[in-house]
Amino acid sequence: MSFSVHPITPTFAAEIGDLDLRVAMSDAEFEALEDAFNTYSVLVFPDQALSDAAQLAFSARFGPLETTIQKFRKGVKLRLGPEFADVSNLGADNEPLPADSERRHFNSGNRLWHTDSSFRPVPAKCSLLYARSIPPTGGQTEFADLRAAYDGLSADMRARLEGLVAEHSIRESRRKIGYDQFTEDEIKGLPAAPQTVVRTHGDSGRRTLYLASHAERIFGMDDAAGKALLAELIEHATQRQFVYSHRWRVNDLVMWDDRCTMHRGLAFDDLRYKRNMQRTTVRDFAPTCEQEGIALKDIIAAE
Ligand code: OGA
Ligand code: MN
Repeated sequence: MSFSVHPITPTFAAEIGDLDLRVAMSDAEFEALEDAFNTYSVLVFPDQALSDAAQLAFSARFGPLETTIQKFRKGVKLRLGPEFADVSNLGADNEPLPADSERRHFNSGNRLWHTDSSFRPVPAKCSLLYARSIPPTGGQTEFADLRAAYDGLSADMRARLEGLVAEHSIRESRRKIGYDQFTEDEIKGLPAAPQTVVRTHGDSGRRTLYLASHAERIFGMDDAAGKALLAELIEHATQRQFVYSHRWRVNDLVMWDDRCTMHRGLAFDDLRYKRNMQRTTVRDFAPTCEQEGIALKDIIAAE
């Protein structure tokens, strides 16, 4: 292994040194990197000089890339190619979005704890976020370790969560921030998706919670009781001992495991400073119910 691994905590988040992500890795080197990823869930690669093509090439080694949900919105001029989620606060003119910008409102949903694309039938495996410019203060990204949070549940709670399936929707997380300007195409293109509340992280064999602000309800549970349970689990999972807070430097690439973490972006003075971040997202291989061997039709029939 040619690169160095510097754990930030013994089991969550690590910095990777001596690696230029523009250079194609050998299979052996890539496997060693995957091992680090499956152990630490969040990898920080400092001081990378990535072109869009280089970010795409490195990301695509982990699996097929998602395309942006902005494609459901016609007539929007994208700053980046379709495999990028534009996480910046910039408009097509590369200037900060104004206070009344609809996209600014939509993007503020990233301040809620979530995991990427849990509202898609096949959700994300991992995300890779690259920082081209950052504000001087604020704008950190926080990550919660959902495998450690699962291990920290009581045996009773773990038993209670077995087999539960939640319904996730992008409209739910946006409802929480008061955004409801979805177009007909978005509503049709982004229907709610079922996701198990616990799952096995296949590449480590560890059990994990699977949570996000996109989760709206739990199948087979009274609406209020389902919402209360989801809120309780998110509160449990985001206690300080499970959280790593990343202070960005320009040219950091940070990748995280969407199967077993949540994240959120912290506020900054976004009308004043540019925060130019671009994300590539790798798709998982199957819906979570399928991965867990849960027959969704039985869950729906039991409602
Ligand atoms: C994301 C995201 C938060 C941030 O890129 O998926 O949620 O801090 N980002 O920008
Ligand atoms: Mn996100």
